[in-house]
Amino acid sequence: MPRRMRTLTIIVSVLCVAAMLLAACSTGTKGTNKLEMYSWWTAGGEADGLNAMYDIYKKAYPNVEVVNATVAGGAGTNAKAVLSTRLTGGDPPDSFQLHAGLEVEMYQPDKYLQPLDSLYTSQGWDKAFPKDLISLLKYQDHFWGVPVNIHRANVLWYNKQVFADNGVNPPTNWDEFFTVAETLQAKGIVPLVIGTKEGWEAGHTFETVLVGVLGAEGYKGLWTGQTAWTDPKVTEALEIFKKMMSYANTDYSALTWGDAAQYLVDGKGAMHIMGDWTDGWFTSKGFTGYGWAPVPQTKGIFDALSDSFAAAKGAKNQENLENWLKVAGSKEGQEAFNPKKGSICARTDCNPSLFNEYLKSAMQDWAVDAIVPSVAHGAAAFEKWATSYKDVLNTFATTGDVAAAQAALDQLCKDNGVCK
Ligand code: GAL
Repeated sequence: MPRRMRTLTIIVSVLCVAAMLLAACSTGTKGTNKLEMYSWWTAGGEADGLNAMYDIYKKAYPNVEVVNATVAGGAGTNAKAVLSTRLTGGDPPDSFQLHAGLEVEMYQPDKYLQPLDSLYTSQGWDKAFPKDLISLLKYQDHFWGVPVNIHRANVLWYNKQVFADNGVNPPTNWDEFFTVAETLQAKGIVPLVIGTKEGWEAGHTFETVLVGVLGAEGYKGLWTGQTAWTDPKVTEALEIFKKMMSYANTDYSALTWGDAAQYLVDGKGAMHIMGDWTDGWFTSKGFTGYGWAPVPQTKGIFDALSDSFAAAKGAKNQENLENWLKVAGSKEGQEAFNPKKGSICARTDCNPSLFNEYLKSAMQDWAVDAIVPSVAHGAAAFEKWATSYKDVLNTFATTGDVAAAQAALDQLCKDNGVCK
């Protein structure tokens, strides 16, 4: 090759490498125009609600690519573990789903999260959210998440047609529940549907039984050491749960909460105890034949949880992240999200006429009921305790060993430093 040609080839190659490096830099992680949002919302209703909020964000920031990072699994069973690894490995999503309450402790907030206090002030959020929620959101004197909703855990969903056909009414206490269950079973209908596939659902159901049997204060005391886990009322709640399982579908360990709810849609099952994301799920399926009532003995008590969005320290897209949180905390964002999600707004100024009958009733109850924190969904206890609690209940659903379950629950309280 002549010398001039060679020189030209070298110059071109150098330029190419430089161009490639430049391209790599601009598509690399820093300085990209993306927003990575991480959640476990993949089910019908949940995904719809999230998309409705994304639509608002995309309209306001059309040049930002929204990366919808999801890890399926109800209650965040799988998502939380993957997220922890990403945070500690230095590869955080910009924003992620976090329950309001003690769950935040598992992410070592001072190390991995951004405190959101100044956003709260600039957006007026300390006044936009109700007091009960504000106190749940503050951990070590800082805000770590922007709440998008309030969910209720203690709802008994039922198939209205099945109830009408068999002349039964929603039970208000556990004696009535078992009478209804007996009637339905005799007719070949599965009285209670439950799915425990993801490991948290038995814990969810049992917490609502505890709330009813112990009352609001008694239940709250279980997580603060005021109520002993050896209390005879805990035994009673375990006995009730054991008896409930004898009226449940036998394939429960293979089903998710959505699969279980499908029994109601198909008219094969009569009752399902689950949080009100079920309302969003039914709606997404076009199913309207469902009724609702508080879980027996919990009328006047609202077993609450709230989904919030946190900001990761070292987020790659800081400005996009802040704009996202502003949408999540806004009236417009929450009015788009919640009617589809099956939850009520965290804000107090949403327009009730946008919500269906169930959600309107939840709004009214939230305003007057005694509020208790859900343990299965991050509000009542540190994650370590909540996870072990769910494990004990998941085993108990199958073994029915009351004494062993109660001893294990008591031991967990001790292991977590709350009981002596
Ligand atoms: C909860 C979460 C709800 C819903 C539910 C079922 O933990 O707060 O928003 O996703 O799990 O997956």
